[in-house]
Amino acid sequence: MGALAEIPDRTARGYRVDLGKTSRKIIVYRDDDTVRGFADACPHMGVPLPWNADDYMSPDGKYLRCANHGALFDLDGKCVFGPCKGEALPPIQLEVRGRYVWLLT
Ligand code: FES
Repeated sequence: MGALAEIPDRTARGYRVDLGKTSRKIIVYRDDDTVRGFADACPHMGVPLPWNADDYMSPDGKYLRCANHGALFDLDGKCVFGPCKGEALPPIQLEVRGRYVWLLT
């Protein structure tokens, strides 16, 4: 998908992944040398979280935030505040190999 260095530590970045005839937007959250992946689709309405590119984090940096109605997600993707509380961002399996982020299928 991209180099780990493209993602500042303890922040998230969005990647569009080509799946042949379709594509999918994926959130990649980096914590040092590990990453967590989620579909960029808020469980409230199924729309992308940010209004501006890569603007996924809450101001305190502790949560992923949906700009649409203010939902907050912990770093495991579970909604802890907002209209989808108790639901979760769909997880995406990723792996870091050789300082690059790989999508596992
Ligand atoms: S679309 Fe995300 S909180 Fe409503």
